[in-house]
Amino acid sequence: MRIVVAPDRAAAAQHAADIVERFVNSAVATALGIATGETMEGPLAEIAGRCQRGALSLAHTEVYLLDEYVGLEPDDPCSFASTVNRLLVQPTDLSPGAMHGPNPHNPDLYAECADYERRVRAARIGLQLLGIGTNGHIAFNEPGSSLASSTRVVQLNEQTRSDNARAFPDGTCPPRAAITQGIATILLARKLLLVACGQPKARPVARALEEPVTRSVPASALQLHPDVTVVVDPPAAALLADEPSQPCRPA
Ligand code: GLP
Repeated sequence: MRIVVAPDRAAAAQHAADIVERFVNSAVATALGIATGETMEGPLAEIAGRCQRGALSLAHTEVYLLDEYVGLEPDDPCSFASTVNRLLVQPTDLSPGAMHGPNPHNPDLYAECADYERRVRAARIGLQLLGIGTNGHIAFNEPGSSLASSTRVVQLNEQTRSDNARAFPDGTCPPRAAITQGIATILLARKLLLVACGQPKARPVARALEEPVTRSVPASALQLHPDVTVVVDPPAAALLADEPSQPCRPA
Protein backbone atom coordinates (compact mmCIF):
# COMPACT_ATOMS: atom_id res chain seq x y z
CA MET A 1 0.00 0.00 0.00
CA ARG A 2 1.35 3.43 -0.97
CA ILE A 3 0.24 6.34 1.22
CA VAL A 4 0.70 9.80 -0.26
CA VAL A 5 0.16 12.86 1.92
CA ALA A 6 -0.53 15.76 -0.44
CA PRO A 7 0.08 19.30 0.86
CA ASP A 8 -3.61 20.20 0.52
CA ARG A 9 -6.93 19.15 -0.98
CA ALA A 10 -6.14 20.65 -4.40
CA ALA A 11 -2.83 18.79 -4.59
CA ALA A 12 -4.59 15.57 -3.54
CA ALA A 13 -7.05 16.06 -6.44
CA GLN A 14 -4.17 16.64 -8.87
CA HIS A 15 -2.28 13.61 -7.64
CA ALA A 16 -5.37 11.43 -7.97
CA ALA A 17 -5.98 12.79 -11.48
CA ASP A 18 -2.34 12.01 -12.38
CA ILE A 19 -2.93 8.38 -11.42
CA VAL A 20 -6.16 8.25 -13.46
CA GLU A 21 -4.40 9.88 -16.43
CA ARG A 22 -1.55 7.34 -16.34
CA PHE A 23 -4.10 4.52 -16.14
CA VAL A 24 -6.26 5.84 -19.00
CA ASN A 25 -3.17 6.28 -21.19
CA SER A 26 -1.83 2.84 -20.33
CA ALA A 27 -4.09 0.81 -22.62
CA VAL A 28 -6.24 1.12 -25.72
CA ALA A 29 -9.48 0.45 -23.80
CA THR A 30 -9.89 0.90 -20.09
CA ALA A 31 -12.56 0.26 -17.45
CA LEU A 32 -12.47 2.87 -14.70
CA GLY A 33 -14.47 2.54 -11.49
CA ILE A 34 -15.89 5.87 -10.28
CA ALA A 35 -16.81 6.93 -6.76
CA THR A 36 -18.95 9.93 -5.88
CA GLY A 37 -19.09 12.26 -2.88
CA GLU A 38 -17.59 15.64 -2.10
CA THR A 39 -14.02 14.33 -2.06
CA MET A 40 -14.31 13.05 -5.62
CA GLU A 41 -15.42 16.40 -6.99
CA GLY A 42 -11.82 17.71 -7.04
CA PRO A 43 -10.30 14.74 -8.88
CA LEU A 44 -13.22 14.56 -11.33
CA ALA A 45 -12.99 18.32 -12.05
CA GLU A 46 -9.24 17.94 -12.59
CA ILE A 47 -9.79 15.05 -15.02
CA ALA A 48 -12.51 17.01 -16.86
CA GLY A 49 -10.20 20.05 -17.10
CA ARG A 50 -7.42 17.97 -18.62
CA CYS A 51 -9.89 16.59 -21.19
CA GLN A 52 -11.12 20.09 -22.04
CA ARG A 53 -7.52 21.26 -22.58
CA GLY A 54 -6.95 18.31 -24.90
CA ALA A 55 -4.36 16.78 -22.55
CA LEU A 56 -6.42 13.66 -21.86
CA SER A 57 -9.08 11.70 -23.70
CA LEU A 58 -11.70 9.39 -22.22
CA ALA A 59 -12.96 8.35 -25.67
CA HIS A 60 -11.85 4.76 -25.11
CA THR A 61 -12.77 4.55 -21.42
CA GLU A 62 -15.82 2.88 -19.89
CA VAL A 63 -16.79 4.01 -16.41
CA TYR A 64 -18.64 1.98 -13.78
CA LEU A 65 -20.39 3.51 -10.75
CA LEU A 66 -19.72 2.07 -7.32
CA ASP A 67 -23.18 2.63 -5.96
CA GLU A 68 -26.52 4.39 -6.42
CA TYR A 69 -29.38 5.55 -4.21
CA VAL A 70 -32.68 3.67 -4.35
CA GLY A 71 -35.80 5.84 -4.17
CA LEU A 72 -34.91 8.97 -6.14
CA GLU A 73 -36.72 10.01 -9.32
CA PRO A 74 -34.88 8.94 -12.51
CA ASP A 75 -33.82 12.52 -13.32
CA ASP A 76 -32.95 13.56 -9.74
CA PRO A 77 -29.76 15.65 -9.87
CA CYS A 78 -28.63 14.06 -6.58
CA SER A 79 -28.46 10.55 -8.03
CA PHE A 80 -24.92 9.34 -8.57
CA ALA A 81 -25.65 8.72 -12.26
CA SER A 82 -26.74 12.37 -12.67
CA THR A 83 -23.70 13.52 -10.72
CA VAL A 84 -21.20 11.57 -12.81
CA ASN A 85 -23.02 12.63 -15.97
CA ARG A 86 -22.63 16.28 -14.92
CA LEU A 87 -19.03 16.05 -13.69
CA LEU A 88 -17.52 13.62 -16.16
CA VAL A 89 -19.69 12.80 -19.17
CA GLN A 90 -20.87 16.27 -20.20
CA PRO A 91 -17.52 18.05 -19.91
CA THR A 92 -15.43 15.32 -21.55
CA ASP A 93 -15.34 13.08 -24.61
CA LEU A 94 -16.56 10.11 -22.57
CA SER A 95 -19.43 8.66 -24.54
CA PRO A 96 -22.80 8.74 -22.68
CA GLY A 97 -23.16 5.01 -23.41
CA ALA A 98 -19.84 4.40 -21.67
CA MET A 99 -21.22 5.21 -18.21
CA HIS A 100 -22.55 2.14 -16.44
CA GLY A 101 -24.37 1.87 -13.15
CA PRO A 102 -27.00 -0.21 -11.43
CA ASN A 103 -30.58 0.73 -12.34
CA PRO A 104 -32.36 1.55 -9.06
CA HIS A 105 -35.72 1.70 -10.89
CA ASN A 106 -35.74 -1.94 -11.93
CA PRO A 107 -38.81 -3.44 -10.18
CA ASP A 108 -36.66 -6.54 -9.53
CA LEU A 109 -33.73 -5.09 -7.58
CA TYR A 110 -32.43 -8.55 -6.72
CA ALA A 111 -32.04 -9.34 -10.43
CA GLU A 112 -30.58 -5.88 -11.04
CA CYS A 113 -27.88 -6.41 -8.42
CA ALA A 114 -26.97 -9.82 -9.82
CA ASP A 115 -26.80 -8.34 -13.32
CA TYR A 116 -24.64 -5.38 -12.25
CA GLU A 117 -22.29 -7.71 -10.37
CA ARG A 118 -21.93 -9.77 -13.56
CA ARG A 119 -21.31 -6.66 -15.69
CA VAL A 120 -18.68 -5.26 -13.32
CA ARG A 121 -16.87 -8.60 -13.16
CA ALA A 122 -16.95 -8.90 -16.96
CA ALA A 123 -15.57 -5.36 -17.33
CA ARG A 124 -12.46 -6.19 -15.28
CA ILE A 125 -12.06 -2.80 -13.63
CA GLY A 126 -8.44 -1.66 -14.02
CA LEU A 127 -8.53 1.26 -11.57
CA GLN A 128 -11.20 1.81 -8.93
CA LEU A 129 -11.54 5.24 -7.30
CA LEU A 130 -12.79 5.15 -3.71
CA GLY A 131 -13.76 7.57 -0.99
CA ILE A 132 -14.28 6.68 2.65
CA GLY A 133 -17.23 7.48 4.89
CA THR A 134 -16.74 8.97 8.34
CA ASN A 135 -17.94 5.60 9.67
CA GLY A 136 -15.33 3.73 7.61
CA HIS A 137 -17.62 2.67 4.77
CA ILE A 138 -16.46 2.16 1.19
CA ALA A 139 -19.04 2.61 -1.54
CA PHE A 140 -22.17 1.98 0.55
CA ASN A 141 -20.75 -1.01 2.43
CA GLU A 142 -21.64 0.11 5.91
CA PRO A 143 -19.98 -1.18 9.11
CA GLY A 144 -20.91 -4.82 9.59
CA SER A 145 -20.80 -5.62 5.86
CA SER A 146 -19.27 -8.96 5.00
CA LEU A 147 -15.81 -8.68 3.49
CA ALA A 148 -17.04 -11.29 0.98
CA SER A 149 -20.10 -9.23 -0.03
CA SER A 150 -21.18 -8.71 -3.63
CA THR A 151 -23.52 -6.16 -5.25
CA ARG A 152 -26.71 -5.85 -3.25
CA VAL A 153 -29.36 -3.54 -1.82
CA VAL A 154 -28.36 -2.06 1.53
CA GLN A 155 -29.95 0.13 4.18
CA LEU A 156 -27.91 3.27 4.82
CA ASN A 157 -27.03 4.03 8.39
CA GLU A 158 -27.99 7.32 10.00
CA GLN A 159 -24.40 8.60 10.11
CA THR A 160 -24.09 8.16 6.34
CA ARG A 161 -27.47 9.79 5.66
CA SER A 162 -26.59 12.71 7.87
CA ASP A 163 -23.12 13.13 6.26
CA ASN A 164 -24.54 12.94 2.75
CA ALA A 165 -27.44 15.34 3.46
CA ARG A 166 -25.15 18.24 2.44
CA ALA A 167 -25.44 17.05 -1.17
CA PHE A 168 -29.25 17.32 -1.07
CA PRO A 169 -31.38 20.46 -1.22
CA ASP A 170 -32.30 21.99 2.15
CA GLY A 171 -35.04 20.05 3.84
CA THR A 172 -34.60 16.86 1.81
CA CYS A 173 -33.01 13.76 3.26
CA PRO A 174 -30.98 11.16 1.40
CA PRO A 175 -32.85 7.93 0.67
CA ARG A 176 -32.75 5.12 3.20
CA ALA A 177 -31.56 2.49 0.72
CA ALA A 178 -28.98 2.07 -2.01
CA ILE A 179 -27.44 -0.46 -4.36
CA THR A 180 -23.73 -0.92 -3.77
CA GLN A 181 -20.94 -3.00 -5.18
CA GLY A 182 -19.83 -5.38 -2.46
CA ILE A 183 -16.46 -5.40 -0.77
CA ALA A 184 -15.42 -8.53 -2.68
CA THR A 185 -16.54 -6.86 -5.92
CA ILE A 186 -14.39 -3.82 -5.21
CA LEU A 187 -11.36 -5.94 -4.34
CA LEU A 188 -11.51 -7.52 -7.83
CA ALA A 189 -10.27 -4.27 -9.43
CA ARG A 190 -6.63 -4.46 -10.51
CA LYS A 191 -5.71 -1.20 -8.72
CA LEU A 192 -7.48 0.76 -5.99
CA LEU A 193 -7.12 4.49 -5.35
CA LEU A 194 -8.59 5.86 -2.12
CA VAL A 195 -8.81 9.62 -1.70
CA ALA A 196 -9.65 11.16 1.68
CA CYS A 197 -9.53 14.82 2.69
CA GLY A 198 -10.43 16.76 5.80
CA GLN A 199 -10.32 16.21 9.55
CA PRO A 200 -13.53 14.08 9.72
CA LYS A 201 -11.68 11.42 7.70
CA ALA A 202 -8.67 11.20 10.06
CA ARG A 203 -10.10 8.54 12.34
CA PRO A 204 -11.64 6.27 9.66
CA VAL A 205 -8.42 6.51 7.60
CA ALA A 206 -6.21 5.54 10.55
CA ARG A 207 -8.53 2.68 11.54
CA ALA A 208 -8.79 1.42 7.97
CA LEU A 209 -5.06 1.51 7.23
CA GLU A 210 -3.35 0.80 10.54
CA GLU A 211 -5.72 -1.32 12.63
CA PRO A 212 -6.66 -4.96 12.06
CA VAL A 213 -8.98 -5.80 9.17
CA THR A 214 -12.54 -5.92 10.44
CA ARG A 215 -16.06 -5.78 9.05
CA SER A 216 -16.67 -2.95 11.57
CA VAL A 217 -14.46 -0.77 9.34
CA PRO A 218 -15.26 -1.88 5.79
CA ALA A 219 -12.42 0.21 4.29
CA SER A 220 -9.93 -1.92 6.27
CA ALA A 221 -10.51 -4.56 3.56
CA LEU A 222 -8.15 -2.49 1.41
CA GLN A 223 -5.32 -4.06 3.41
CA LEU A 224 -6.19 -7.32 1.63
CA HIS A 225 -5.50 -5.88 -1.83
CA PRO A 226 -2.03 -6.01 -3.39
CA ASP A 227 -2.12 -2.68 -5.27
CA VAL A 228 -3.61 0.22 -3.30
CA THR A 229 -2.70 3.90 -3.36
CA VAL A 230 -4.12 6.18 -0.69
CA VAL A 231 -4.00 9.94 -1.27
CA VAL A 232 -4.77 12.08 1.78
CA ASP A 233 -4.41 15.71 2.76
CA PRO A 234 -2.71 16.59 6.09
CA PRO A 235 -5.95 16.76 8.16
CA ALA A 236 -7.01 13.31 6.94
CA ALA A 237 -3.49 11.97 7.64
CA ALA A 238 -3.34 13.44 11.14
CA LEU A 239 -3.87 10.18 13.04
CA LEU A 240 -1.62 7.98 10.89
CA ALA A 241 1.36 6.70 12.82
CA ASP A 242 3.39 5.52 9.81
CA GLU A 243 5.40 7.85 7.58
CA PRO A 244 3.92 8.45 4.11
CA SER A 245 5.52 6.14 1.58
CA GLN A 246 5.73 8.59 -1.29
CA PRO A 247 6.29 12.34 -1.57
CA CYS A 248 3.82 14.50 -3.47
CA ARG A 249 4.48 17.60 -5.53
CA PRO A 250 2.70 20.80 -4.47
CA ALA A 251 -0.36 21.90 -6.54
C1 GLP B 1 -20.78 8.31 -0.23
C2 GLP B 1 -20.35 7.31 -1.28
C3 GLP B 1 -19.01 6.75 -0.96
C4 GLP B 1 -18.04 7.85 -0.61
C5 GLP B 1 -18.52 8.65 0.53
C6 GLP B 1 -17.57 9.76 0.94
O1 GLP B 1 -21.28 7.71 0.90
N1 GLP B 1 -21.26 6.23 -1.41
O2 GLP B 1 -18.54 6.03 -2.08
O3 GLP B 1 -16.82 7.26 -0.27
O4 GLP B 1 -19.75 9.18 0.15
O5 GLP B 1 -18.14 10.98 0.66
P1 GLP B 1 -17.52 12.39 0.86
O6 GLP B 1 -16.37 12.48 -0.06
O7 GLP B 1 -18.64 13.33 0.50
O8 GLP B 1 -17.11 12.49 2.27
